[in-house]
Amino acid sequence: MIRSVVRGFGTALPKRVLTNAELESMVDTSDEWIVQRTGIRQRYIAGEGETTASLGEAAARAALDKAGLTAADIDLIIVATSTPDNTFPATAVNIQNRLGMHHGFAFDVQAVCSGFVYAVTTADAYIRGGLARRVLVIGAETFSRILDWTDRTTCVLFGDGAGAIVLEAREGAGTIADRGILTTQLRSDGAHREKLYVDGGPSTTGTVGHLRMEGREVFKHAVGMITDVVVSSFDATGLTADDIDWLVPHQANKRIIDGSAKKLGIPLEKVVITVDQHGNTSAASIPLALAAAAGDGRIKEGDIVLLEAMGGGFTWGAVLLRW
Ligand code: UT7
Repeated sequence: MIRSVVRGFGTALPKRVLTNAELESMVDTSDEWIVQRTGIRQRYIAGEGETTASLGEAAARAALDKAGLTAADIDLIIVATSTPDNTFPATAVNIQNRLGMHHGFAFDVQAVCSGFVYAVTTADAYIRGGLARRVLVIGAETFSRILDWTDRTTCVLFGDGAGAIVLEAREGAGTIADRGILTTQLRSDGAHREKLYVDGGPSTTGTVGHLRMEGREVFKHAVGMITDVVVSSFDATGLTADDIDWLVPHQANKRIIDGSAKKLGIPLEKVVITVDQHGNTSAASIPLALAAAAGDGRIKEGDIVLLEAMGGGFTWGAVLLRW
């Protein structure tokens, strides 16, 4: 049985750090409120010349380096983003070109904060279906460019960045002892659109628009939706919360992460947290967190790793894999 195994990982962050203290001089907020309600202490903000594609390219190069591969070894690039450089062509094609890659194919997926989970699921389906052997999966965002910087309820929450992994086809026995992706679970429900959306777009206003969110409403649904897909992942594999070595959640809010871990019965020592450093980087948050924990040696070969996310749409999903 073919499994998709993580062979490399990499990240890229903009140069500029924006602290909570700086935000105090921009909107009516405080470091205390932001830290208490979200756990965020700082975020990175893209400057001139830094875009979703440039950050994605840098993360991709780092992931290829770590894997000991070059763009010549890749068949497919999938980029998860809601903040593309242009409406079209896809940011994935832009990154493909920046990497000097003119073979294979590349496309974007758009599932907002669940984007990386959607992209990994898509890559896994292509690999298991025999359509690609090595896939570069990138989550890259510049949410700073769609924020309303006068709206304190949203502008303090988000940041920019990118993370990438290389997934490679390997033969497995078809049991949960295999390395690689063991199950993926995706869901969406468009009835929740108004709770988290961007108030513009090419076919409606002809403008990019700004992010709008009813934070409390999103918060109310988050833990339940995350639990739903994680429980489905356990049902699909026979694994339980006790088998999880590392939970790598989407990093929107420390309170949502703590609440989900508690409900699932996963101790906080096994949860990777980067929201304090990066804020919510949407589709980039999971690969940024994954690379942090794999890079410093917390995640080791053979570990069971659970990825989960929930975001605009609503979309939500989980990936359970053996590292
Ligand atoms: O990435 C996936 C999608 N996004 C999320 O998962 C985000 C989900 N939601 C959240 O993380 C939280 O709901 C927030 C962090 C957005 C807000 O936390 P909350 O505990 O739900 O606060 P709240 O919206 O109920 O607001 C509490 C108070 C309000 O004042 P009143 O009405 O009680 O007087 C807000 O106006 O806090 C006020 N407030 C602020 N105060 C200082 C809202 N934003 C700020 C701010 N600084 N930046």
